[in-house]
Amino acid sequence: MTTRQFLPLFAASTILLGACALEKPPAKLKFPDGKENAAAPAAAAPAAAPAAEAAPADPKIAAGKAVYDANCAGCHDAGMMGAPKPGDKAGWAARLPQGVEVMAKKAVTGYQGKAGMMPAKGGNAQLTDAEVGSAVAFMVEKSK
Ligand code: HEC
Repeated sequence: MTTRQFLPLFAASTILLGACALEKPPAKLKFPDGKENAAAPAAAAPAAAPAAEAAPADPKIAAGKAVYDANCAGCHDAGMMGAPKPGDKAGWAARLPQGVEVMAKKAVTGYQGKAGMMPAKGGNAQLTDAEVGSAVAFMVEKSK
């Protein structure tokens, strides 16, 4: 990923992390399309330190980890609003049988589950479906 691609992702993630730090998403954070949120100015949200883990060997999983760290970790690392944490096997056990593809589709379009609201593309409309899919593959890989 080039710096030019990474910067908007990083900016969007700081906005998301800021939003996720609140108990409830602010009114501006429109679910499930999240376009408003993506368009919001990079306010004074605290910069997140991405988890300093060694990059996984599989290139798709490694790319997925980068997408995940920048766009999904804000909710999923914290279990925010019921977001399943990668590596939490119990939290994923009931989700895994539907398969990575179905989960990737749901992550792209967003959905309301029993635990909470998963915003489309995690709220970053600029992500491609493939980027979201690779992030899902990374999460699933860690949670099997
Ligand atoms: C604003 C918080 C938030 C962000 C950001 C977010 N998620 Fe989620 N996600 C959730 C919540 C809450 C759930 C649980 C919904 C439920 O099943 O009740 C969820 C569930 C999921 C699931 C499980 C789907 C299933 O069928 O069980 C996947 C996969 C997922 N998210 C992927 C992603 C990816 C990939 C990103 C980043 C591109 C992302 N999420 C960003 C809140 C978020």
